[in-house]
Amino acid sequence: MANSEGDHPDASELVTLARRAREHACAAYSQFKVGAALETVDGTVITGCNIENATYGLTICAERVAMFKALSDGHRRFTRIVIVADTEAPTPPCGACRQILWEFGGDLDIVLANLTGQTGRHRLKDLLPLPFDARLL
Ligand code: THU
Repeated sequence: MANSEGDHPDASELVTLARRAREHACAAYSQFKVGAALETVDGTVITGCNIENATYGLTICAERVAMFKALSDGHRRFTRIVIVADTEAPTPPCGACRQILWEFGGDLDIVLANLTGQTGRHRLKDLLPLPFDARLL
C-alpha cells in the first residue's frame, strides 16, 4: 500500500494489513495461514502471505513473499515487519526468513501478532545472532 502523505502507519494498522494478507494464504497442506506486512523507510507497506504447493518443500513463508514483492517493486530500505498467525503463542519467523530479512532489511523491528492482538516484539539481530552475510565474503 503506497502512502502518499509519507506518514508511517502505526503498529495496529500494520497488524490489520497483515491480517488481511493472511486471508490470501495458500495453506492447503498445513492449514497454517500466515500474513506479513513489511514497512519501508518512507512508510509504504508491502504485504505477503504463505504460499504452499504439492511438493511441500517449495513453500514460501509470508515474510519472504512480502520481502520479495517489495524488492521486486524497487524498495530497498525497511524498518518493520508485522507477522500474524492464528496462534496464542507468538509465531516468529523461521530460520530461512530470518536470513533473508537480515540480508535485505537489516536489524528490522519484528512485531508478532495473532487475531486478537500483539504477542511479541523483537529486533532481528536478537533473533539471528552471529549472522552470515555479505560482510564475510
Ligand atoms: N510460515 C510462515 O509463512 N511464516 C512463519 O513465520 C512460520 C511458518 C508458514 C510456512 C508454511 O506454509 C506454514 O506456515 C506451516 O509451517
